[in-house]
Amino acid sequence: MSISIGIHDLSFATAEFVLPHTALAAHNGTDIGKYHVGIGQESMSVPAADEDIVTMAATAAAPVIARHGADRIRTVVFATESSIDQAKSAGVYVHSLLGLPSSTRVVELKQACYGATAALQFAIGLVHRDPAQQVLVIASDVSKYDLDSPGEATQGAAAVAILVSADPALLRVEDPSGLFTADVMDFWRPNYRDSALVDGQESINAYLQAVEGTWKDYTEQDGRTLGEFAAICYHQPFTKMAYKAHRHLLNHCGHDTGKETVAEAIGLTTAYNSVVGNSYTASVYLALAALLDQAEDLTGQSVGFLSYGSGSVAEFFSASVVADYREHLRTKENLQAIDRREVLDYAGYRALHERSFPTDGGEHPTPAQTTGPFRLAGLSGHKRIYEDRGEPTGAPPGPGG
Ligand code: CAA
Repeated sequence: MSISIGIHDLSFATAEFVLPHTALAAHNGTDIGKYHVGIGQESMSVPAADEDIVTMAATAAAPVIARHGADRIRTVVFATESSIDQAKSAGVYVHSLLGLPSSTRVVELKQACYGATAALQFAIGLVHRDPAQQVLVIASDVSKYDLDSPGEATQGAAAVAILVSADPALLRVEDPSGLFTADVMDFWRPNYRDSALVDGQESINAYLQAVEGTWKDYTEQDGRTLGEFAAICYHQPFTKMAYKAHRHLLNHCGHDTGKETVAEAIGLTTAYNSVVGNSYTASVYLALAALLDQAEDLTGQSVGFLSYGSGSVAEFFSASVVADYREHLRTKENLQAIDRREVLDYAGYRALHERSFPTDGGEHPTPAQTTGPFRLAGLSGHKRIYEDRGEPTGAPPGPGG
């Protein structure tokens, strides 16, 4: 008998600040239509000086632990491409901040924006081996490009925590998956750089090539047909990319590519990404959160997922929506995580962008800026020091739920 395994809970968090694209456009003289229409972005989250991938991840995961407890969680997989340490998993800090049991395995996973999907699939394998166990998958990233570069308009920051379990309350992840890997240099970040390097047009082409590649494999593995999906959640570095990708797939499959057909499949998935910006590996699951929070009842329907990570690896898979899923959503908390952000002016954003820790191993406290439950208090002897501010994170209202 096959076991049903999938997403039992999903919670997200984003940063303290937000920069509207109108402020960026006013600074660099860009017609705002390019941002609002051309790339489909309204604003982007900007972390405070005392926020990073760990504080966002802990904020996203705390409500999941509060709701379900940690008794069954024996594995935490932390997916990120904006890692804070070359050796230690950021997940270990989160494990500590959340007070998870010592009898847990914690590991970090990386393949650009695809990492969270790899983590989800590996988690499903672990739960399959022992359905009594649950796996906490966390995706957390700060997307950062050079100031005054074309990529600057496609920054952002967010974390998603996903509890993977047998008999899930939200979505059952289905077999098969379509897979695709190609060695391309479309986007990368050498170890000595804070911000990513990107060949913009090459990255869009590489993404579209991966859409075709995963779909070809998905079809060969006897996957569903395109018409069977109620919606498709695409990785969204900027929301217009989802439109480009879906049109490309429809065209590739010989389907109508009219505005309404495209909007029907992806229109509800872009609401959070368009105001949060690129959250890298979390972004496809922010698309899912937006879809589940806004759609009419999706019970029993199939949702497609196209997860793309530059470099590149991609996967197409599907999941079916579980009855009564709406009782388990975190819609109010998700909206609060977005609405609570403080609006920055351009100068404030630039100052935060230019911040970096000295590398001298000294004492470097960070200014207290975040109002979230966890903060990065500073750097001491090359070690990141985190603080649990002791605020309730389990019960709404509160950032990230
Ligand atoms: N009104 C309406 N639309 C306008 C406009 C206006 N006034 N001015 C320009 N536009 C449109 C353009 O026609 C164009 O639309 P199309 O793509 O449909 O042709 C769009 O706005 C963007 O314009 P440009 O191509 O001129 O923009 P750009 O050169 O400044 O770069 C970008 C855009 C390549 C996305 C750049 O922001 C970038 O490099 N971003 C980072 C890379 C990225 O996100 N790549 C996506 C795939 S890789 C991936 O998915 C992994 C990941 O997370 C990074």
